[in-house]
Amino acid sequence: MSSGAAAGTLPTATGGLRPQTNACRVSVELSGLWTLRFDDRDWHAGIRDGIPVGVPGSWNDQVPGARDELGPAWYERRFEPPPLAGREAVIRFGSVCYAAQVWLNGTWLGSHEGGHLPFAVPCEDALTDGENVLVVRVDGRLARDRVPPGMVPPGQSHGRAFYPDVPYDFFPFAGIHRRTELVITPKDGIADLRVQTARDGDGAVVRVVADAGDGDVRLSLDGAPIGTEHRVDRHGLWSPANPRLHVLDVELSRGGALVDRYALRCGIRTVEVAGDELLLNGAAVRLRGFGRHEDFPVLGRGAHPAVAAADLHLMRQAGANSFRTAHYPCDEETLDVADQLGLMVIAETPAVALYFGDADSRRRQELALRFLAEMIGRDRNRACVIGWSVANEPRMNHPLAAEAMRELCEAARALDGTRPAGYATDLPGTAGIEAADIVFLNSYPGWYTHPGRLDVAEAALGDTLDRLHQRHRKPVMLTEFGADAMPGAHADPPSMWTEEYQADLIERFLRVAAARDFVVGTHVWAFADFATGQADHRPQSLNFKGVFTRDRRPKLAARRLRELWQATAATR
Ligand code: GCU
Repeated sequence: MSSGAAAGTLPTATGGLRPQTNACRVSVELSGLWTLRFDDRDWHAGIRDGIPVGVPGSWNDQVPGARDELGPAWYERRFEPPPLAGREAVIRFGSVCYAAQVWLNGTWLGSHEGGHLPFAVPCEDALTDGENVLVVRVDGRLARDRVPPGMVPPGQSHGRAFYPDVPYDFFPFAGIHRRTELVITPKDGIADLRVQTARDGDGAVVRVVADAGDGDVRLSLDGAPIGTEHRVDRHGLWSPANPRLHVLDVELSRGGALVDRYALRCGIRTVEVAGDELLLNGAAVRLRGFGRHEDFPVLGRGAHPAVAAADLHLMRQAGANSFRTAHYPCDEETLDVADQLGLMVIAETPAVALYFGDADSRRRQELALRFLAEMIGRDRNRACVIGWSVANEPRMNHPLAAEAMRELCEAARALDGTRPAGYATDLPGTAGIEAADIVFLNSYPGWYTHPGRLDVAEAALGDTLDRLHQRHRKPVMLTEFGADAMPGAHADPPSMWTEEYQADLIERFLRVAAARDFVVGTHVWAFADFATGQADHRPQSLNFKGVFTRDRRPKLAARRLRELWQATAATR
């Protein structure tokens, strides 16, 4: 295994620890209005005649005429830093889609490939007093050797043509999509933190590993000193019913002087797969929720705390207890909200629509492994994150495919043995699933198969689930099921594209799942309508399978779910 994911060693999140401001550290927010220019030419020293755009945000829906523009584009941001006082400094990007190159005052700082995870570039040597000019070249163009891939060969996608030419069912938004900060930290300070939990009776033991070089490291939990191993009783555990968070304080001193401090807000809980069950803190749990895209009008794929908070409050109101970050890791503030609201998360890498057997196969696999390691490095301390999805709907029509899924599942377990791993598949009969801890099934009877016939579809789903379980004897999770519903479209009897058809399909399938103890979760596809490329089956370039509209108005299915899940939530 290459790309630095050797068994057992956890790479420091390429974005480093989440920025925070305290007596030892400073985070300077650089989000806001930046200047943008679409251009192939070189503007690394500063751009001229650019236009204003918001960051975080995709440029596609902000700039008239730039909907299908994938770059390259140049961003510029001017700022004045506080004094460094001998400390280290980096520019940290929450995410830039897809490939970024960064300069400060004309000096090259570094580059990053991958659209959904943080990275940081050192800048203290280039930083000057007074005005600084930060320039970022962003390339969102599609290519076969990227993850996710684009412009794939015929026969290597789901067979539906999109423009832009993507093999997946969401729009390839581009831009600086998450918070960007100047982060100033002490030299040789606390580089990383790892919080690992293990069940201990009805409580848990938490093990803290602080990567802080030499010096005295003191740990405290909620203000009380603790050792590197500490037991928490059941009252201190995190769960959807009681999303208890603790403050873990880490202080680093040398020669009796405080060098660095870091405070981590974290929950303590355990997750296990036992037989056909998924256990949270030793008790069987069933996941009720959604697949959720990071997608909103104007923002595109840009993250915004208000959207994160609103979405997760709506999920809770519907009686959901979980969601999957489809089809890429979500923003860190969204996970903050999930930690606080007690929503469990299946964190998914950007490895969607992978295919195998061409010249770029190995490069894509290497990227998928690296993005997996980066995601686990970023999210491993999260109580809300209860499982890893290492890919979504890979094409399994090549002998390498099953091996590739095995390699990804094993890499996830090697990097973090405290959470189950799997990949979402729409091909339940194919090899590769045996490597997963839980079978993640995407299934669309009643829509792509058995259109308009819910009785037949219900039976077909039951049959698929039973055959999967008989074959693999492990828990199964319905990671996707659903139907498109045009907002305001109604029919009696229900027919496809109407709100009634969507609500009935969902209710029926929840019943099919509830009748099977080995089904440990049901995630409706999708939380909200979202943008796709242009295609014959995507009116207005939208996927209408959301139970909320793109601007978060409820469809009939949202109300139906609330009735069904609120009743369930009361009993579990
Ligand atoms: C797939 C896929 C989704 C897609 C959905 C659909 O299963 O994983 O990304 O949006 O089907 O067709 O609605």
